[in-house]
Amino acid sequence: PDALRVGMAGLGTVGVGVLRLLESNRDLVRARAGRGIEVVAVSARDRSKDRGVDLSRVRWADSLAELASDEDCDIVVELIGGAEGDALDLARAALSQGRGLVTANKALIAHHGLEMARLAEENAAPLKFEAAVAGGIPVVAGLREGAAANAIERIYGILNGTSNYVLSEMEASGADFGDVLADAQAMGYAEADPAFDVDGTDAAHKLAILAAIGFGSRIDFDAVSVSGIAEVRAADIAHARTLGFVIRLVGVADCEDGPEGARLLQRVRPCLVPKQHPLAHVTGPTNAVVAEGDFAGRLLFQGAGAGAGPTASAVVADLIDIARGRTGHPFSLPVDSLVAMERADPGHR
Ligand code: NDP
Ligand code: HSE
Repeated sequence: PDALRVGMAGLGTVGVGVLRLLESNRDLVRARAGRGIEVVAVSARDRSKDRGVDLSRVRWADSLAELASDEDCDIVVELIGGAEGDALDLARAALSQGRGLVTANKALIAHHGLEMARLAEENAAPLKFEAAVAGGIPVVAGLREGAAANAIERIYGILNGTSNYVLSEMEASGADFGDVLADAQAMGYAEADPAFDVDGTDAAHKLAILAAIGFGSRIDFDAVSVSGIAEVRAADIAHARTLGFVIRLVGVADCEDGPEGARLLQRVRPCLVPKQHPLAHVTGPTNAVVAEGDFAGRLLFQGAGAGAGPTASAVVADLIDIARGRTGHPFSLPVDSLVAMERADPGHR
């Protein structure tokens, strides 16, 4: 069969990671996909930058609009980032023209996921975003397919690798917040604007996506109550330790009973986690997500939550699924079946 032809926008940490993976695991990917996966066109801001990968066999698109309408591409992979602007325009244009979209962009999906899913449905185009949540951990597929038979009551976990790296390095070595954050940026874990990592926004994006998938609800990012780790000091970490706790940035989504039916409660907070709790042992850029299902019980998904290799692994897994025709509904249900859940007041919870 013909190869799946990919147009890729964004050649940064993740984009280069995808190219490296496709090169390094070419035969394995071909076997699993049932056909080759070829990047035929790319786009980035600066064509002259040395990215450490061979781009001699790919074409540079003159614009993102050209990439979205490129008849030589079956799928657009969006690895630019940002909820609005070029990434959003590209995603809309690709899906509207029936081109599939694979993205690692949680901001885009958290803000526009419903619109994207509707465009995908209307144009019979696949839409996949495994890499958008928790890097290399297959938690989107795990919730959407693996836990599909369960009513999920609660989803919680560590959803931002950068802030977890910062907190656990401060805890292990007493390192300075700013220095450790700079290390996380240098290793490619952080967002283009690391404020999103530090202020909890990135974890909130991912929590809103997981809640929508787990509860079969319309994504509701604006309802997430968020506070980040900017105010956490070395002294807080030390005091927590003497009391038998560690500090972790945790996102929690609950599907609660309310007077009018199910209500959704979503919040991201730095939390005191008892040292014996599984989340207390999650260090570095690792993420861990717990989903509580009525029949499966407590499911724990854990692994690398950021970085080139793990994120590329999730992007290419989506491409393999599409190559195999395993596309499904991005939020587990058709858009019109997703419930608009009432918001619960987070108060001090
Ligand atoms: P980078 O900042 O490393 O790369 C972004 C890339 O996008 C760059 O190659 C840049 O070009 C390109 N770009 C920016 N604007 C445009 C534009 N208008 N047209 C074409 N290309 C453009 O980001 P990451 O690779 O780290 O992240 C990419 C996406 O993946 C984001 O949505 C991020 O949230 C997500 N993600 C990142 C993870 C990580 O660990 N880094 C993990 C999971 C998801 P140039 O290089 O020329 O400047
Ligand atoms: N900046 C994100 C993080 C990348 O640190 O978790 C992975 O989504």
